Amino acid sequence: MNFSFLSNFFTGGGVIGVDVGTASIKMVEVSGSEGKMEVKNYGILENYGHFDRLNDVIQTSTMKIFEKDAAELVKLLYKEMKTKIRNVAVSLPVFSSFTALIEMPDISDKEVAKTISFKAKQYIPLPLEEVTLDWLPVGFRNDRERRLKQILIVSVSTEQIRKFKEIFKEAGLNLVALEVESLSNVRSLIGGDPTPTVIADIGSHSTGIIIAQDGFLKSSAQIDYAGSHLTHALSKGLNINLRRAEELKKQRGLLGTGGEFELSTIMFPFVDVIINEVVRVKEVYEKNYGVKVERMILTGGGANLLGLTQYAEKQTKMTVLKGDPFLNFSYNSALQPAVQSLGCSLSVALGLAMRTL
Ligand SMILES: Nc1ncnc2c1ncn2[C@@H]1O[C@H](COP(=O)(O)OP(=O)(O)OP(=O)(O)O)[C@@H](O)[C@H]1O
Ligand SMILES: [Mg+2]
Repeated sequence: MNFSFLSNFFTGGGVIGVDVGTASIKMVEVSGSEGKMEVKNYGILENYGHFDRLNDVIQTSTMKIFEKDAAELVKLLYKEMKTKIRNVAVSLPVFSSFTALIEMPDISDKEVAKTISFKAKQYIPLPLEEVTLDWLPVGFRNDRERRLKQILIVSVSTEQIRKFKEIFKEAGLNLVALEVESLSNVRSLIGGDPTPTVIADIGSHSTGIIIAQDGFLKSSAQIDYAGSHLTHALSKGLNINLRRAEELKKQRGLLGTGGEFELSTIMFPFVDVIINEVVRVKEVYEKNYGVKVERMILTGGGANLLGLTQYAEKQTKMTVLKGDPFLNFSYNSALQPAVQSLGCSLSVALGLAMRTL
């Protein structure tokens, strides 16, 4: 088993990528090897059938939910997958991690290793005893005459790692890799594309904001505004229950017109909060590293909101694309309809699976 969450681990055979979100668990079974990867099956357990209790979330930053409950849900979904593969690669939520991009003179990785934990102390807001630390060289930057080596420091709360180990052990699965979900998104949505890009992973309770350049993750942040806030706004604004609001949101998105209030009018302020924050993170990166971030990629279930790509393009004057993590894979034609509608929701799970094949 390998819990160093940045180093690679090869499983051969096949692997299941598991994304434990706040409101869903997603699994994707993938087989093959680099260049010839195939999606075999997928499964999603959403909202656990208690949609009206929108605050019932599977994991929270305060870690209120017990491992046992999560393990039961993992078991349930795994059983539905009807697979023999037991190797799982699992994502760690952004909120349980902390990343920092640091720049050093162009020294060898060996030299970096010697100084990194000293350096990390300056950047990690938690006591080093409470976190598991890893780092990754992510390219170079020329600053006037100097060539600087860029290192991404990733720290994850040791408690969160312990919890995940426990959940998957309890579920009888073989945990082969754990990684922060931003890394998985970069792998499945960017691959080796060097274009400076900002990715917005719009989930249920939070939106991950990721910067990638030269095919590497450079920065990762999160805000607590995402899909469920749009649903709540519709529910309140139209005086309908959450289930109905969720349905309407999915059916009509930002294109919906008619009724007392237009759906879009109710959702725009919340969508704007998300877009503005994405732009702010992008601008900070541009200022700090002297590059122009050329495009925005939307992913996560929230990226399926009808009309969002066009709206974000209009608001930001950037090229905005919807992510397509299935581009890396072949799959049986029976999966085609799911690929169309689910592509974005599975970007993390697919990226995880890619890592270990
Ligand atoms: N067609 C659609 N139109 C609009 N929103 C959608 C659509 N499909 C899914 N969503 C929204 O996507 C959100 C779920 O996204 P996702 O599955 O990425 O979340 P998650 O990973 O479980 O949550 P988080 O990342 O916050 O932990 C929900 O708010 C859901 O309403
Ligand atoms: Mg998510």
